[in-house]
Amino acid sequence: MDKILVHGGAPLKGSVRISGSKNSALPILAATLLTREPCVIQRVPDLSDIHYMLTILSELGAEVERASGTVQIKAEKVLTDAPYDIVRKMRASVCILGPLLGREKEATVSLPGGCVIGDRPIDLHLRGFEALGAAVRVQAGNVKVLAPELRGTTINMRGKFGSTVLGTDNIMMAAVLAEGTTVIDGAAEEPEVVDLANFLIKMGAKIEGAGTRRIIIEGVKELHGAEHTVIPDRIEAGTFLVAGAIAGEEVTLQKVNAAHLTSITEPLQKAGYHITTAADRLTIRPNGSRKPLELETEPFPGFPTDMQAQMCALLATGEGISVITEHVFPQRFMHLAELKRMGADIELEGATAIIKGVPQLSGAPVMASDLRASAALVLAGLQADGTTEINRVYHIDRGYESIDDKLNQIGANIERVKA
Ligand code: UD1
Repeated sequence: MDKILVHGGAPLKGSVRISGSKNSALPILAATLLTREPCVIQRVPDLSDIHYMLTILSELGAEVERASGTVQIKAEKVLTDAPYDIVRKMRASVCILGPLLGREKEATVSLPGGCVIGDRPIDLHLRGFEALGAAVRVQAGNVKVLAPELRGTTINMRGKFGSTVLGTDNIMMAAVLAEGTTVIDGAAEEPEVVDLANFLIKMGAKIEGAGTRRIIIEGVKELHGAEHTVIPDRIEAGTFLVAGAIAGEEVTLQKVNAAHLTSITEPLQKAGYHITTAADRLTIRPNGSRKPLELETEPFPGFPTDMQAQMCALLATGEGISVITEHVFPQRFMHLAELKRMGADIELEGATAIIKGVPQLSGAPVMASDLRASAALVLAGLQADGTTEINRVYHIDRGYESIDDKLNQIGANIERVKA
């Protein structure tokens, strides 16, 4: 298994180009199953999660071609049973249910182990499919959705932790080919949902209100092929902003959408960083003193749960006492134990991390537990004294395109040790 060694203390300076959004690209690639015609998707990031999705599509019978960031897909015929071996590796595979149900009126996906029905359930997705007229059966580790026909209706997609992103995507993808009008209330407002809606509209779907809490979909008979460029990855951008904050002299992000990043740039400004925006670029510089922060994760446009771990790493190295409360995934704090091994002073009370800033962390062997937690450890390592050895880096490759190379381009000192 590969390891990453971060030799801390190198000041970051320069520009880095942000990739296309993983969380946009995954459902958009799945949406190509809605038509028999060819689709072309641009700015698709080179990540293992994307590789899994493309493998699932080709195992379902689609012709998939990929050349750097461009993916061409033609799903003339499709099977409706997704392969277990790949599905279990990536929870986002669940977003093939919507398009398969829309097109073939049936789909079967293996549930990837306990985590799906435990910590990360899909009950809201299934409730939405049922409202559209599908029968849902969970048996032998599979979920099967089946509908003689899909009928538009009003569906509330809000659960006890707020709206669901992939759930909204799934229902939107099934409803575009349903009979009549579907209203999704309590829809997720994330930019990735808007990006998917824009792609579906290019394919001939009739969708209004994406990006608000109410999405209205007028079903059409069929969709056609389309070309689309994926939006910039706001979480990769946020991660590089924090890298600039934690160890930067001046770091510029290229090809970003600053409007998607205000919930990240505003707290960084409050903490004392100077951030400037020009066209599709953002630059972050330290501004003298550092202040602690109080943050709560919320669905968009709030502070994203996908940036919580990285922000913990930053605040662990500052001054004063910061507080971060996790409302979206209340158990998402696996990174704290590893940050503490590096000298961070953090207490967890329920879903609230109380972080007392220390002047400097120290390098240590640490274990990546999930995608964003691993990014947080790399960020902490940039600031730490000595070398931080991060194991299980396959987590980071799921969601960051060459994070080590990109950080080295702007002055970091990171080695990847191949297994
Ligand atoms: C997506 C993102 C993920 C991000 C998350 C929240 C992708 C591929 N992944 O995940 O990076 O962290 O949004 O912004 O886009 N829930 C239920 N029942 C359901 C579905 C969700 O209770 O049927 C709960 C979840 O456990 C969680 C909350 O709702 O507490 C939000 O989850 P959701 O928005 O569905 O996350 P994903 O779409 O899986």
